[in-house]
Amino acid sequence: MVTIGLPTETKDKERRVALTPSAVALAIDRGHRVLVQAGAGEGAGIPDQAYESIGAKMVVDAAEVWGADVVVKVKEPQAAEQAHFRSDLTLFAYLHLAAEPDLTAALLASGTAGYAFETLTDRHGLPLLAPMSEIAGRAATIMGAAALSSANGGSGTLMGGAAGVPPAKVVVLGMGVAGTMAARGARGLDAHVTGVDIDLQRLYDHHLAGTVDATQISEPQLVGDHVSEADLVVGAALVPGARAPVVVTEDQVAAMRPGSVIVDLAIDQGGCIATARPTTLSDPTFVEHGVVHYCVTNVPGQFPRTASAALSAAVTPRLLRLADDLAAGRAGTSDESPQLAGALNVADGKLVHPAVADAFPDRPRIGAL
Ligand SMILES: NC(=O)c1ccc[n+]([C@@H]2O[C@H](COP(=O)([O-])OP(=O)(O)OC[C@H]3O[C@@H](n4cnc5c(N)ncnc54)[C@H](O)[C@@H]3O)[C@@H](O)[C@H]2O)c1
Repeated sequence: MVTIGLPTETKDKERRVALTPSAVALAIDRGHRVLVQAGAGEGAGIPDQAYESIGAKMVVDAAEVWGADVVVKVKEPQAAEQAHFRSDLTLFAYLHLAAEPDLTAALLASGTAGYAFETLTDRHGLPLLAPMSEIAGRAATIMGAAALSSANGGSGTLMGGAAGVPPAKVVVLGMGVAGTMAARGARGLDAHVTGVDIDLQRLYDHHLAGTVDATQISEPQLVGDHVSEADLVVGAALVPGARAPVVVTEDQVAAMRPGSVIVDLAIDQGGCIATARPTTLSDPTFVEHGVVHYCVTNVPGQFPRTASAALSAAVTPRLLRLADDLAAGRAGTSDESPQLAGALNVADGKLVHPAVADAFPDRPRIGAL
């Protein structure tokens, strides 16, 4: 038996919760104890009573929840939350360490074991990133189309055009889960969509499936030609665990038409567009080189009902594995369950995931002398 803590999220306007009551019930049935911070589910429309009635212990104090053996949450711990780190704590959440040097330093200094949702890998890909990428991809088109309105500082271009007027041009960088959903959304609004990827097979699949109007291999100059013509660019390129590849340079952004829009979803890994910098749900956009940038690091946090249900469904089987492994003393060892493959980013004051360790060459890593 281990104690699982479910804190209330503290990031700006973040309303998701990592586990729904039905997921908590599964953990309790399995013999684990669950502490839920009062109000944790409120933003997603889940009252405390729904957790309490299935046997969770409700606590008011964040420190008590963080005192659990394993804390499961949505977003990377914020500065105030990092004060709860300790050497016998296991954290299971989105961490995005390659873009979070301070958080990485705090995890290393404390000895907390950090399992990241976004690097957990199975034969289909990244099962704990995919549900939020799906939602963020759909949202990217909605946010991007709205930002094109002149009332919001955009060029005043409507995605679908009109009779005798061509549609908006949308370029999607990275045709994985998020990029595919953004492309589908943009096509649903009758925009002209070009999908860019470094993976030719992936582009071939999209070409055959008709997800996009055109495909483009990710070569800098060719991408630049599309970007300079684009009304909306969606950034969704990822190399798991690593800092995002920079696919669009500052000069290419400067060559875009004034009032065009960039939505860089990859900002949580540092951004795949050179001019992107993190923004918040409270203050989501800025203008640089005349281009509106939307670079919110927690896009699904504004759709908490859908996103919490989707995240909880994906996380729960892996959390139960992790809790069982912790109870059996297998967590973080070579006997750890294959269902947690790729998730462990940091343990015992050392970086474990190779791509994360490569992002911090001066930090201690497992296997180094
Ligand atoms: N901002 C947010 O709120 C939010 C929410 C969810 C996901 N995300 C982020 O969106 C990004 C995409 O996630 P995903 O699940 O779609 O990833 P994915 O692995 O499904 O897709 C990434 C794609 O990028 C491609 N790629 C890699 N290098 C490239 C390059 N140089 N040029 C063009 N394409 C390249 C890959 O081949 C792959 O097809 C991630 O950074 C993820 O963390 C952000």
